[in-house]
Amino acid sequence: MKIAMASSEAAPYAKSGGLADMVSSLSRSLIERGHDVRIFLPAYRDSLPPDAQELPVRLKVRWGDSFQEKFSVFRAASGSLECYFISHPLFSGRGGIYGEHAYAPDPDNHYRFSLFSHMLLEFLSRTSWIPDVIHCHDWTTGLIPYLVSMKQRSLFPETASVMTIHNLAFQGGFSRLDTYGMGIDPETAHGLPPEHQNLLALGIIHADWVTTVSPTYALEVQRPEYGFGLDALLRSRKECFSGIINGVDYRVWDPQTDSLIPQRYGPDSLEAKQLNKQELISRCSLSDREDLPLIGMVSRLAEQKGFMELVNGTHSPLEEMLKVLPMQAVIVGTGDARMEKRLRELDGQYPQLSVVIGFSDGLAHLVEAGSDFFLMPSRYEPCGLNQLYSLRYGTLPIVRRTGGLADTVIDMDSESATGIVFDELTPEGLFEAVSRAVHLWHEDRTMYTTMQLRAMAQDFSWNSSAETYEAVYTGIRRNI
Ligand code: GLC
Repeated sequence: MKIAMASSEAAPYAKSGGLADMVSSLSRSLIERGHDVRIFLPAYRDSLPPDAQELPVRLKVRWGDSFQEKFSVFRAASGSLECYFISHPLFSGRGGIYGEHAYAPDPDNHYRFSLFSHMLLEFLSRTSWIPDVIHCHDWTTGLIPYLVSMKQRSLFPETASVMTIHNLAFQGGFSRLDTYGMGIDPETAHGLPPEHQNLLALGIIHADWVTTVSPTYALEVQRPEYGFGLDALLRSRKECFSGIINGVDYRVWDPQTDSLIPQRYGPDSLEAKQLNKQELISRCSLSDREDLPLIGMVSRLAEQKGFMELVNGTHSPLEEMLKVLPMQAVIVGTGDARMEKRLRELDGQYPQLSVVIGFSDGLAHLVEAGSDFFLMPSRYEPCGLNQLYSLRYGTLPIVRRTGGLADTVIDMDSESATGIVFDELTPEGLFEAVSRAVHLWHEDRTMYTTMQLRAMAQDFSWNSSAETYEAVYTGIRRNI
């Protein structure tokens, strides 16, 4: 099948989170299965690789009476991945993906990404490569299913569309006044209730199939608590909506071959993991206490990730843990300024805590390899990738039972345990989960090691999920 992946992010070119990894690794896996996959991205100021080549076409997109924009397209390859960059000053003239500052999105993003969608379809319609499926990722590409099914069917008579939700909290809202400039018909716009006035809802309404990135999240988002106003819409589409767990690219995330960690190891050489712990302890200037379990976190510092609950208040659960439990912790991340400040304060107060505000791939790999446990207390988690990396690194995940976390980690109460799973995101719930982990490590090393080996043996490679996407594509392919 010819599959166009439309996304605002794809590794290695433009990445702010797991979306970028998912798009590239799913594409690679589909290519290995014999499909013809092309990724389409905006050409942000810093995303074009030096070897990208501009295609010799002059392109123009227009809609309505007065909207007309010129654009160009670049092409680059990274291994088997073929990527097309749509270039327009609204992208190439600014830094960052959603804005110069990751946590302050540009106010015209609904317009920028609508324009991207128009330009992408215009480019496709001018080539001989008309996809069988356009797979759209998140709100930034939500206009595409609408355009294909309502406005451009004659150009794409056999093209089906899939809308994948990676995070329902981001929807790309617009006002009725914006719709003309975005190329949305007034009748369509007027028919939308206020909670559906966003690009993600348009994608959900018009796509031939909707997916999200884990089976549990697919159920959760149909309930008001997790639905961010779109639960009723998702319920109305439940016959064409499924949850497919993300795979891991084990070429990048496997401690037996990882080139970013000081000491490689596997199930047969688990003792070598210890050298990574020593390196992590010394790199983060923690006191040299290998006799304490080390709990790692690598995360965006965002409300979604449960940081508020972890660090807020005068007796926050994190402080309580550091005071009472024999453990150390390392937290790596950037994000919400209030949380960064609070974490810096705690770092100054507790020698057993090390906080690194920032992100580096190397450090993320070292935290996975060098920690004994990996904490993810998310409020909600569509899939989550770090817990999957942790499993492979024998770093037992401590996770809240939600979304993809609930689907991939099995609690230590079970015979087939691979981690610690807890329900309540409260100070008590958090404290108890971490304290169970710390006690396990100190008091039952045999069980801890058995769980590590079981975790490392889990297979979350793309094989079965890519096959499931393939079945979705096949099921919706338009047969004329
Ligand atoms: C988003 C979600 C995360 C998911 C990722 C890739 O970042 O928050 O749970 O793993 O997308 O699908």
